[in-house]
Amino acid sequence: MWGACCFILLVLCQVQGSQRIEPLVQTEVGLIRGLQAEDGDYAMFLGVPYAKVNEDNPFGDAQPFPKFTETFEALDDSAVCPQTDFFSNQLVGTLDCLHLNIYVPNKATSQNKLPVIFWIHGGRFTYGSGKRAEFGPKFLVRHDVVLVTINYRLGVYGFMCSDSVEVPGNQGFKDQYLALKWVKTNIASFGGDENQITVMGESAGSMSVDYHLLSKREKFFKRAILQSGSALCPREFVQSDDKAAIKIAKHLGFETDNFNEAISFLSKQNEKVVVSTTQELNMYFRACAEKDFENVEKFVSEDPGITTPEVKGISILMGYNSQELMVIYSNDTKEFYDSLNNFLYDVGDEFVDEDNVVRHFYIGDEEMSVSKKKLLIAFASDYKFNHPIQRSVIRYNQSEVESVYHYIFSYSGGRNMFKKIFNMTEGGASHADELGYLFDSNLFPGEPSPEDQLIIDRMTAMWTNFAKYGDPTPNVTDLLPVKWLPVSNYLYALNINTSGKMHKRPYRSRMAFWDVYLKAYPEKFSTTSASDFDAINSGN
Ligand SMILES: *[C@@H]1O[C@H](CO)[C@@H](O)[C@H](O)[C@H]1NC(C)=O
Ligand SMILES: *[C@@H]1O[C@H](CO)[C@@H](O)[C@H](O)[C@H]1NC(C)=O
Ligand SMILES: *[C@@H]1O[C@H](CO)[C@@H](O)[C@H](O)[C@H]1NC(C)=O
Ligand SMILES: *[C@@H]1O[C@H](CO)[C@@H](O)[C@H](O)[C@H]1NC(C)=O
Ligand SMILES: *[C@@H]1O[C@H](CO)[C@@H](O)[C@H](O)[C@H]1NC(C)=O
Repeated sequence: MWGACCFILLVLCQVQGSQRIEPLVQTEVGLIRGLQAEDGDYAMFLGVPYAKVNEDNPFGDAQPFPKFTETFEALDDSAVCPQTDFFSNQLVGTLDCLHLNIYVPNKATSQNKLPVIFWIHGGRFTYGSGKRAEFGPKFLVRHDVVLVTINYRLGVYGFMCSDSVEVPGNQGFKDQYLALKWVKTNIASFGGDENQITVMGESAGSMSVDYHLLSKREKFFKRAILQSGSALCPREFVQSDDKAAIKIAKHLGFETDNFNEAISFLSKQNEKVVVSTTQELNMYFRACAEKDFENVEKFVSEDPGITTPEVKGISILMGYNSQELMVIYSNDTKEFYDSLNNFLYDVGDEFVDEDNVVRHFYIGDEEMSVSKKKLLIAFASDYKFNHPIQRSVIRYNQSEVESVYHYIFSYSGGRNMFKKIFNMTEGGASHADELGYLFDSNLFPGEPSPEDQLIIDRMTAMWTNFAKYGDPTPNVTDLLPVKWLPVSNYLYALNINTSGKMHKRPYRSRMAFWDVYLKAYPEKFSTTSASDFDAINSGN
């Protein structure tokens, strides 16, 4: 009974602002009913399915979700993809998880379409979701943008990569791609501008954004925001490996040497059991170079280190936090520092500093102790994030990109996410700390302090300006007193902080050290090869 004209009537009522009506939207895939938010002037459409996992092979490509035959009630964002929950450590999730959430300011209409931000969550490609409890929209949507947050498959279901066409690899990226295509096709029905889509991600989500930029597939977006993650981060890229499925099946009591038999066995197992088995086996799953298969369009075809970005006309905003890997050194005991015999501790790979070059650069001949904490954080952060991200920034600047804005977030306040979760008290900002200033989250109930509110206002103004204009500071204002200059002949970076200042070539001597080190020891930054598989699985 609900037709397109009814929808238009409802929209008019909303625009006049007098009544709170449940929003109902006619899309290409059918009618979708959402609800009005309580914490702002926007509507929410929660848990909209964009794709469907193949039940006979949940490790392979998903298909676009079929059209709705009746009104879809978009009221529930609780579905997450199979994983071990980061907070509760419980196995959770279901394969009916390829959903997205859409948050639409009430002033959006078909005549006044608003720019769209498409958010890809992080979590080591292993956990996380787009849930409102973690990524609440209220700070962003008040700047007149539509926000979309998504789930994509994780771990073994999202990133198993094989030599068989059934499991070509990068399924999680292809889920994201289907979600982006869904948004491109349908977002105008919600009052979103399909020609002004910004993809944005953090950590593994930021690496994902990088892969979308590097992919040869059609790009449905115009701008990209990459927070604390690059496809050039070391040891985050693997070769295809048929042994993974065989090994998991064996652990579950099914002996075979045949990949397809293993997959068909695993497809029938409970997804939580499969996820927990990969954990028991210390397996991890990442982006890979897909093999050639007839009639299969690849998403990733080669090592991201050798890909030439084709990003003509696209604008990029990319950066990292001042103390990314603070969490590694959050144990202040003498035993912990004594255990750092190899200088390096859990940077996520088998990095060995044979000639002590890295050690000498960061701490000289000094004994390892808690007094070296800041220097160790600098080392691990430079290796894993800062230098690869700077290399990405430089590479994009040299491509046909429209512009590249680079930042370092260094603010330490009451909403720094990892510092809060891990009870860290160091100065500066850890990995994931900026998220509390972009999103409303259950981690931070109550009103922000005035200092934190200023950073929220500043961050969300710059991020949404970028989504609207491709420029985070189109005008200098009281809120944004510093003009953020794009990378030009100078490697400009904005320090995001209470004062906020433009820097040139941040951490320049540390970065120059890694430039030279990378030339001397290229293998330390190279792709993980299939023969490393067992070593890696036992090491991490
Ligand atoms: C700190 O490190 C030591 C040595 O590795 C370990 O035994 C201890 O459990 C750690 N403490 C915490 C709180 O992680
Ligand atoms: C701002 O950044 C500087 C380094 O650039 C740092 O020393 C200072 O602690 C930061 N201030 C806040 C409030 O985080
Ligand atoms: C942080 O502190 C809180 C409260 O003291 C405690 O419940 C929690 O377990 C701590 N978290 C970590 C990671 O140590
Ligand atoms: C910037 O300021 C100018 C002059 O006040 C104004 O016309 C323009 O709309 C402003 N641009 C933005 C994006 O706010
Ligand atoms: C950015 O790219 C331009 C054009 O290729 C080049 O002239 C400039 O030196 C680059 N800047 C940096 C910091 O590499």
